Amino acid sequence: MSTTMVAPHSKRPVADDKVFAANKKAQEAAKKVGAEQVINSTIGALMEDDGSLSVMQTVMKKFKNLPEAEIAAYAPIAGLPDFQEAAEKAVFGDFRPEGHVRVVSTPGGSGGIRHAVWNYMEEGESMLTADWYWAPYKTIAEEHGRKLATFQLFDEKKAFNITSFKEKVQELAEKQERLLIMMNTPAHNPTGYSLTDEEWAAVIEFLKDLQEKQQKKIILYLDIAYIDFAGDMKTSRGFMKQFEGLSENILVLVGYSMSKAFTFYGLRSGALVCLSSSEEVADEFLAAATFSSRACWSNGTRGAQKLLANVYNDEKLLKKINEERDSFKGILEGRAQAFVDEASEIGLEIFPYRAGFFITIPCENPDDVAAELTKDYLFLLPLGRGLRFAPCAVSAEKCKKSARLIKQAIDKVNG
Ligand SMILES: Cc1ncc(COP(=O)(O)O)c(C=O)c1O
Repeated sequence: MSTTMVAPHSKRPVADDKVFAANKKAQEAAKKVGAEQVINSTIGALMEDDGSLSVMQTVMKKFKNLPEAEIAAYAPIAGLPDFQEAAEKAVFGDFRPEGHVRVVSTPGGSGGIRHAVWNYMEEGESMLTADWYWAPYKTIAEEHGRKLATFQLFDEKKAFNITSFKEKVQELAEKQERLLIMMNTPAHNPTGYSLTDEEWAAVIEFLKDLQEKQQKKIILYLDIAYIDFAGDMKTSRGFMKQFEGLSENILVLVGYSMSKAFTFYGLRSGALVCLSSSEEVADEFLAAATFSSRACWSNGTRGAQKLLANVYNDEKLLKKINEERDSFKGILEGRAQAFVDEASEIGLEIFPYRAGFFITIPCENPDDVAAELTKDYLFLLPLGRGLRFAPCAVSAEKCKKSARLIKQAIDKVNG
């Protein structure tokens, strides 16, 4: 008799999460040779130059000063009402499109993706996203009996590949009535790419046309996990105005996360926000997502919700926190620039980086290159067709050094 106890659909390979496994190796190396010798560019969190976690002090102080009951009590399933209002402001800023908005709290950005995959796809269907994508998209799809389809993010000139986007949407439209399209922008993980306003205009025009001609239901999911590290309000959110006046058969879902924006990674808080020209579609979203929350995690982290609500109800506090985040953003920009400049100087090929926590280096044999780099105590994440370097996690000096080490390792492995 087989020793398998799990049901067939839950038989999974025993494997460490790739990021956490690489991080573990980096930490072991740091113990052996000292942290200054090690470049740990594995983790997707903002770190101080010395490798400790950056924490927004104003946020943390306000959180710790919350009344105990505001931390310990349950929150309503869809979130505290003042949190829902705050999340809407945090998502759209000065660029709230006209339309019906509903908000459901989620445990981080991950929870919103889960709800969309479950509620806006049928079993066996595919969600479309870019060919460079955050690995949990696939995990979440597979966990729920769905699949992932991809379009090419870049063309041969490394520009946004609108042709591939259109082809793949069209292909899916021939098979499915409902299309869930996952766009991780601005500050895409893993490349740091952000669609321009013009690229967004082309995407939306195409989707409108497709919807009209083929009567499809389109769910455009905007994953904005890194939005607050992607330039100013206009740069990061200006494109959202283009979501105004869409047909009721084009639903916009926005996945908001407090993980990076408030250095609240472990507090698990975020929101799934829907925008629709139809009140009925918006209410239907709220009902489906609330039901799903009850089934999956019941309610969210009340203290984190209260914190966001308090911040958006206090202009002075909001300003102070934005300034604190801006100083983190400045550090991140300096590090990324150090890497990008050095890469350009020495001829290391990278994908166009606009903002955010990661930079991607396309290359052959990424696992071998990553293994070669560990000899120089540089740890990063090998992807299917490249390497993910995380300037969020290492000093500017180490960023500059890393570009050189990566170039050397690629030349050595791939000759
Ligand atoms: C692309 C992307 N989306 C969403 C998330 C959501 O993360 P969390 O669930 O921790 O908020 C992350 C975090 O790494 C991410 O990289």
